[in-house]
Amino acid sequence: MKHLLSIADLTRGSAVELLDEAERFEQALLGREVHKLPTLRGRTVMTVFFENSTRTRVSFEVAGKWMSADVINVSASSSSVSKGESLRDTAMTLRAAGADALIVRHPASGAAHQIASWTAGHDGGPAIINAGDGTHEHPTQALLDALTLRQRLGDIEGKRIAIVGDILHSRVARSNALLLSMLGAEVVLVAPPTLLPVGASSWPVTVAHSFDAELPGLDAVLMLRVQAERMNGGFFPSQREYSINYGLSEKRLALLPEHAVVLHPGPMLRGMEIASAVADSPRAAVLQQVTNGVHMRMAVLFRLLVGAEEVAG
Ligand code: CP
Repeated sequence: MKHLLSIADLTRGSAVELLDEAERFEQALLGREVHKLPTLRGRTVMTVFFENSTRTRVSFEVAGKWMSADVINVSASSSSVSKGESLRDTAMTLRAAGADALIVRHPASGAAHQIASWTAGHDGGPAIINAGDGTHEHPTQALLDALTLRQRLGDIEGKRIAIVGDILHSRVARSNALLLSMLGAEVVLVAPPTLLPVGASSWPVTVAHSFDAELPGLDAVLMLRVQAERMNGGFFPSQREYSINYGLSEKRLALLPEHAVVLHPGPMLRGMEIASAVADSPRAAVLQQVTNGVHMRMAVLFRLLVGAEEVAG
């Protein structure tokens, strides 16, 4: 695997290997006072973010530093992009400056694929990791969610998992639907018809509009953020209606089976798509997802920059 641009770059086997590798990194760091492995010494990892981020950017930076890589963060606002430099010139500049890996977030769907084709060159160019491209994909988020679900539920195979909310604008929804179904889960998208993409009928999922009807049969609920910034000022149903019908309230939490777990990729809109009491309850795995994000991003960097033949440690 040269790049991680979408879940289509993975097979079921390679996805499971990444889950296992992330857990090996967690074990390798357990109880250590100093979080430092020599794994990527001498490698240069650059994060290039054209959209804001807390979790993804920070966890890639922590992952790279814990593996002794040189990590450089490039943000669009403080780079020459603000002077009008093109995406291609920016990517080629970072390649020429010595990037072994470029971790890219961009508002345009397909941006990471485009950068991978520009930077390939005769030597293959840097590894490109898609850290979220428009409404398309966010593969490392899906991998860390799968890791969290495996830890909480024991296995993903055969589990019924609902992805709830603003599916239309969510790259997290698409990557999770593809990965979780590849791992054997039964995935149901729960959303109002106006927040479902037209192409969702071709995803390996079922679709439901009543959250309440689904709750008793679920093993996990993956709540999504409502992405008002991608709605051009329009919001239908209204925020109030959305919250009443699709918000995860304490009352709805009580309708889930006791073993069922709640995930949210963050950032959360408390009181809108998830009640604070639910987000902070032991049933929610929100902070476990963040911690797993570091270990999963270590596994992905390791796999892309060192290869499959060596083991973590
Ligand atoms: N889940 C996620 O992508 O969060 P950030 O936007 O904070 O990176």
